[in-house]
Amino acid sequence: MGRVDIVMKAGWTRENFRHGAAMLRYGRHPAATVYDSIGEDFFLALAPGWLNLGLWQGNGSDPAEASVAVRRLVETLAGELPKGADVLDVGNGLAAQDPVIADVAGTRRLVALNITRSQLVAGRQRLAEARAWPVNGDATRLPFAAGSFDGVISVEAAFHFPSRARFFAESFRVLRPGGVISMSDVPTYRYPRGPRELLAALSQLRVWGLGAHAAATPVEIVRQVEISGFVDVRTELVGERVIEPALRFVRERLRTSREDAGGSYRLAASFMVSQVELLWDRGMIDYLLLRATKPNSSRQD
Ligand SMILES: C[S@@+](CC[C@H](N)C(=O)[O-])C[C@H]1O[C@@H](n2cnc3c(N)ncnc32)[C@H](O)[C@@H]1O
Repeated sequence: MGRVDIVMKAGWTRENFRHGAAMLRYGRHPAATVYDSIGEDFFLALAPGWLNLGLWQGNGSDPAEASVAVRRLVETLAGELPKGADVLDVGNGLAAQDPVIADVAGTRRLVALNITRSQLVAGRQRLAEARAWPVNGDATRLPFAAGSFDGVISVEAAFHFPSRARFFAESFRVLRPGGVISMSDVPTYRYPRGPRELLAALSQLRVWGLGAHAAATPVEIVRQVEISGFVDVRTELVGERVIEPALRFVRERLRTSREDAGGSYRLAASFMVSQVELLWDRGMIDYLLLRATKPNSSRQD
């Protein structure tokens, strides 16, 4: 057995190594490197094909709830979209959410945009099921004409975007008057205090390929949405229904599934989970649901 095979057996892939090397210096699209590395069957995913943390009922101790929770989060966000309309899904992961969006919103046209090409390829069957058009592109430079959509949905992706402000401005541009943006995001309340918080924050930024701009408070995020021209901004902070139960579920998965991944892979995963736990326990992060409308007559019409 060669050295590469031994490493692979430990649970690591070539994309993981590329990701590890990139952590020293990410290229132009860090998120694509990260999600190429995560691949199609992420060991810590709550359910196959899903990459969100779920909107849970209960405290995360019921494993059967995980696959319901990931779907419920998307149903909740998609429920805010106009019905029978043209919808853009930004950062669609492995596309498990697209049939749900198509179903809940009864979309006339659904376009799924993702910076990670490998995810669009991996999700092609689910995209076909949703009758969704895949587009490989950047949330901050949407390759669509102004006024192309009635709804924009983005599930747990905006903290990855090079600039939230540009994403909101672009969403505003591609929406028709009266259009709706519905999204979830992970806001940060404050800067780290002391070495443990600093390690947790920096390790998360590096592993997920995020810039410091990813850290924004809920108030700052709302302000950016309003500056883009959106009105009727409604938000809900639901970390206790998302982050807390997801952490409990993942901890249990790590404890019980010793066969599913090699020791060093599990150790790395366990370290990462403990850093998120610290950020959550110390009240540094939360989970935000946000909905806003493009006014019927806006200054950019
Ligand atoms: C945490 S995953 C969430 C995936 C999916 N929404 C879900 O909840 O399962 C973040 C997604 O955003 C995508 N993404 C990150 N940066 C992006 C960008 N600048 N433009 C478009 N998509 C991006 C990633 O490729 C990934 O699919």
